[in-house]
Amino acid sequence: MNIYLAPMEGVVDHHMRAIVTEVGGFHACFTEFIRVVDRLLPKHVFFRYCPELQQGGKTAAGMPVVIQLLGGIPEIVAINAQRAAELGAPGVDINFGCPSKTVNRKAGGAVLLKEPDRIYDIVRAVRKALPGHIPVSGKIRLGYEDTALTLENAHAVAEGGASLITVHARTKADGYKKPVRWQCLAPINEGLTIPVVANGDINSKEDYRRCVEMSGCENIMIGRGALSRPDLALQIKKPDVIPLRWQHIHHLLVDMYVRLKQQSGITERRILGRIKQWLAWLKRGYSEAQQAFDELRYFTETASLERWFEKG
Ligand SMILES: Cc1cc2nc3c(=O)[nH]c(=O)nc-3n(C[C@H](O)[C@H](O)[C@H](O)COP(=O)(O)O)c2cc1C
Repeated sequence: MNIYLAPMEGVVDHHMRAIVTEVGGFHACFTEFIRVVDRLLPKHVFFRYCPELQQGGKTAAGMPVVIQLLGGIPEIVAINAQRAAELGAPGVDINFGCPSKTVNRKAGGAVLLKEPDRIYDIVRAVRKALPGHIPVSGKIRLGYEDTALTLENAHAVAEGGASLITVHARTKADGYKKPVRWQCLAPINEGLTIPVVANGDINSKEDYRRCVEMSGCENIMIGRGALSRPDLALQIKKPDVIPLRWQHIHHLLVDMYVRLKQQSGITERRILGRIKQWLAWLKRGYSEAQQAFDELRYFTETASLERWFEKG
């Protein structure tokens, strides 16, 4: 059973990947999506999204970081995938789940769930452009408006040459509405020969158990649940491990702060925003995070944050 850390734009950057994969339990993680429209992106863009390329495409804990691309033109996605591989990406994932608003040939993401043939063409072009040892994967939702094309889309990803597919068990129209539809993953898992990674609302060990039971999928991807409980993957993999206490989470927050502070060009406002953002997710996993959030919420300077950290 493999657990993947979900790509999350604006949240799961290289700092978060480093911290969460250090806690453990994950098999691999992804960059935020890199949008490719009509040209080959310069190398520095790949390094910006994936600084781990400078260390063999892995986090410090040794987790591979797969580069995720989002685009609608097969040849353009393919040449960018090729560049990602040349720069050392251990894999390339294609995003067919992002609720992109632009509806034209250049658009990528969930809008492509209306066009299984184009999904096939994109995956096929990427597969052909990469050396055989670099895996290609795709990430989809159940559909755009409804689930009529779920299987067709999943087959398009597999037949295009992907060796893994992640399915967020909701349509684009569902947004993040509850309940998530893990049961809709079962026919995909039965119909495909490549591994199907179940995704959506796995926020506890109990959710994991129910998701596996309903979907039949062995592999899962966790996003928001890992931000609320950074050791969730570890808890699922090793149920006997003692859950992380708030004191430890506090250390992780300090770690995040130190990393952000070292990032060149980052503003004080952005640093504070990132720490508050993570605390907001942590509130779901730790009651202490609520109080911390209330105390930090109006800080406008990192000096106040540093004093708060020193208090312990
Ligand atoms: C803030 C945010 C940013 C996201 N960014 C991406 C992204 O860049 N690429 C992607 O494939 N999915 C993205 N997603 C979707 C997640 O990867 C995941 O499919 C979704 O959150 C459901 O999983 P979860 O319930 O475990 O969070 C994003 C989700 C959120 C909430």
